Amino acid sequence: MPETAPKGLARLAFGGDYNPEQWPESVWQEDVRLMREAGVSMVSVGIFSWALLEPAPGTYDFGWLDRVLDLLHENGIRVDLGTPTVVPPVWFFRAHPEALPVTADGRRYEFGSRGALCHSNADYRAAAANITTKLAERYGDHPALALWHVHNEYGVPVSACYCDSCAAHFRRWLATEYGTADAVNEAWGTAFWGQRYGGLDEINPPRLTPTVGNPAQALDYKRFADATIRENFRAERDILHRLSPGVPVTTNFMTALSQCDSIDYWAWGREVDLVTNDHYLITDGRRTHVNLAMAADLTRSVAGGAPWLLLEHSTSGVNWQPRNPAKSPGQMARNSLAHVARGSEGAMFFQWRQSRRGAEKFHSAMLPHGGTGTRVWREVVALGAALDDLSEIRGTRTVADVAVLWDWHSWWAQNLEWRPSEDHDARERADAFYEALYDRHLTVDFAHPEADLSAYPLVVVPALYLMTEAAGRNLTQYVESGGTLLVSYFSGIVDEHDAVHEGACPGVLRDVLGLTVEEFAPLLKGDTVEVTGPGGTGLAADVWTEFVVPRGAETVWTYADGPAAGHPAVTRHRLGAGTAWYVSTRLAADGLDAVLARATEDAHVPARPDLPRDVEVVRRTGESGSYLFAVNHTGTDVKVPLDTPGTELLTGENAAGRFEVPAGAVRVVRLDG
Ligand code: GLA
Ligand code: ZN
Repeated sequence: MPETAPKGLARLAFGGDYNPEQWPESVWQEDVRLMREAGVSMVSVGIFSWALLEPAPGTYDFGWLDRVLDLLHENGIRVDLGTPTVVPPVWFFRAHPEALPVTADGRRYEFGSRGALCHSNADYRAAAANITTKLAERYGDHPALALWHVHNEYGVPVSACYCDSCAAHFRRWLATEYGTADAVNEAWGTAFWGQRYGGLDEINPPRLTPTVGNPAQALDYKRFADATIRENFRAERDILHRLSPGVPVTTNFMTALSQCDSIDYWAWGREVDLVTNDHYLITDGRRTHVNLAMAADLTRSVAGGAPWLLLEHSTSGVNWQPRNPAKSPGQMARNSLAHVARGSEGAMFFQWRQSRRGAEKFHSAMLPHGGTGTRVWREVVALGAALDDLSEIRGTRTVADVAVLWDWHSWWAQNLEWRPSEDHDARERADAFYEALYDRHLTVDFAHPEADLSAYPLVVVPALYLMTEAAGRNLTQYVESGGTLLVSYFSGIVDEHDAVHEGACPGVLRDVLGLTVEEFAPLLKGDTVEVTGPGGTGLAADVWTEFVVPRGAETVWTYADGPAAGHPAVTRHRLGAGTAWYVSTRLAADGLDAVLARATEDAHVPARPDLPRDVEVVRRTGESGSYLFAVNHTGTDVKVPLDTPGTELLTGENAAGRFEVPAGAVRVVRLDG
């Protein structure tokens, strides 16, 4: 069994991407002195260094990296060492221009940024294996080495390449998946629009077409791209395992990023020794701490509940959004510790020292342009100390209350063109349901639709358009044996090939929900409807309505107006020992909360009215004890009730009863007993 925890790291991980090659060596001494001052325990090195390490084909310069690793080791700082395969040197592309990726409309990218790669390219694969081997041979047992960091953020900025080698590779992939062109014709439904293929050799990637292409082909191309990128990860990982045994291998994920749309992290979670994630606050006007919590929960779930590590976030503003606000005082620590509450074994940043040159000079760092006389630096030092106070939580696991189903394949399929309404956005519904659960102070595990759900009293299905028959059976069985299920509209519609399940929608969910949907009736932009139900109160909804025909389900809320006026809007179905709820429209936050109130009641999930809004309370438990994290995102002091007294680890104070969490602060209580 490969190791999973960074080797030799006796504390929570704290540090960042360290790019000493951007600075004269005279600066390095100051770097390590300040790292020690801040309590840095690990840094990520060499992620973009291929051009320096191999300045000409077969000519290597490891001297500078030797000195960096030795210096870090002398100062007790562990190293997360990158394989620099996300940016091959320019000489490589001049010799192999076809290793640059091609877009669906046939344009080839040029060298000069990063991540421009064709993952099918044999020369790239050979060169990546070579530099990885050289690094592993040289540093595989270096005393500073704690973790291998393969590549960087696979899947962005190029999620798929459409070149001729990829076309050939795609055909090989199809041969393995399907065997024959006839099987592909069947799966892709090529009888439609006369797209039948006579042989696999006639098939190309889904390149530019004048109107919508075959959706099943597009979906399979995502799967192919994901599998291809994973082949390359595996090749590097296997070299590292062989030449550097005992050192875990990771690659940094971006689990919750919607732009990263060709990576199936369920599959990737099984490939890495330690799941690591990058998360940045997306400033689109929504509550950033909710998105952060979701990213952390999703990452932990991808890790199967095991400890994971936040490998990158920012001390303050980033530089790649249209507007990049600075974090407010205290926000960085809240962000970091919220990740830790949800299972991260530390908090790492991009990057250690803010760059003077290049594309990211306006991105915040642990050590800003302004040096140590800055607020950011003072907060960094304080965070390092806080993480040290929390060392004992390492290895404990976050406890979840409910599950939300999540599937990248479904999301890919759902985002294809020509759906009933472009205003329906599966990710938006996932975010909205997550936020509703967050506001009820419930901790969420994400689960694959075919996973064992028996541990959860409540399972929420926000918008899972693609669902296999196995997933449908899984949910039916879950409800029959006593679970409570809450399903949102446009779920269970198609199979793994984007073909509508036979019979009335929602195919694989008809029986468990006790209903059929006769017709979708999406709304025009800006139109809203009202649904009325228990207590006579009206709830607002928009985007989507439909004609639901109950076949065993009872109607709980009814459309008061709109195209489906008088028809069921929200239903409840008793099946076996459990209950299945169905929501057929896009409810606003208060509506989701009203439905959740009923579903959590059925599931016997306790309400937590004693906790104020925007105060996160999460537990981690394990051999060292049981810990309650309270993160106060509000500007006022709040009281958090404790069932058991304990010791607050950041202040050393005793905590009991209703204990105070000051405005903007985080408290972590080791519960007695
Ligand atoms: C990503 C990359 C880093 C850096 C940060 C900036 O996460 O991995 O190299 O570019 O974004 O936010
Ligand atoms: Zn290609």
